Amino acid sequence: MNNIKIKNLSLRYGKKQVLKNINQEIEEKKITAIIGPSGCGKSSLLRCINRMNELIPESRVDGEILFHNKNIYDADTDITEVRQKIGMVFQKANPFPKSIYDNVAYGLRINGTKDKKKITAIVERTLHDCGLLKEVKDRLNTSAIQLSGGQQQRLCIARALAIEPEIILMDEPCSALDPSSTFKIEELMVKLKERYTVIIVTHNMQQAARASDITGFLYMGELIEYGDTNTLFTNPKEKLTEDYISGNFG
Ligand SMILES: Nc1ncnc2c1ncn2[C@@H]1O[C@H](COP(=O)(O)OP(=O)(O)O)[C@@H](O)[C@H]1O
Ligand SMILES: [Mg+2]
Repeated sequence: MNNIKIKNLSLRYGKKQVLKNINQEIEEKKITAIIGPSGCGKSSLLRCINRMNELIPESRVDGEILFHNKNIYDADTDITEVRQKIGMVFQKANPFPKSIYDNVAYGLRINGTKDKKKITAIVERTLHDCGLLKEVKDRLNTSAIQLSGGQQQRLCIARALAIEPEIILMDEPCSALDPSSTFKIEELMVKLKERYTVIIVTHNMQQAARASDITGFLYMGELIEYGDTNTLFTNPKEKLTEDYISGNFG
């Protein structure tokens, strides 16, 4: 099953072509890792999936990304809805300078939810799902900025989950974290895939090998190889993939 289909996707920033004719279906309720050397287009690809590239001047997307068989680039697409259904977590945790509670409640309030009990229930549930409730339940009204880096990143994941997305995009979510916080996020991703489709960009091949079901190798804007993670790491089809995973470049 899949709910995202990428068709003939190309991306340009001005004259520079960054993604080249990518065709790939993304499997539902699995963790897909996108790996590849720095600058190969991983973040750009992820941003295409929820139309974040539009915020970059001179960017141009060609092709389609079908979400439930509808092209998210169609003129009549509700972009707010796309970004609600396809949430994103960034490399550097970016909590708002608000309380822990208000961070998680943010999207619900924006969407017009007023029922305080309902908001509290969702805040507590998503914090619990992200393994954070135990750590913060006595200080929900204190500033999120005081949390550790790993806690901030889990808070950002909770904030993304509170508005009930179907897909979670994560762009190197652990690159600023220590090993124990990284481990917690990886554990969390595995839990999340019961309910969500997770796409994670990582330059950490060990992380992709440990945590993902499916891996895509991107090189200079082309999706070179895509498939079962174990197979890709132990028996890659393409010479380029083999060179990359054996550390010959990148
Ligand atoms: N806002 C931007 N404007 C112009 N070029 C960009 C922009 N962001 C990224 N690029 C270029 O696009 C290419 C892919 O970048 P990126 O998607 O960030 O790669 P990765 O995440 O794999 O490191 C790089 O050559 C980068 O310099
Ligand atoms: Mg990147």
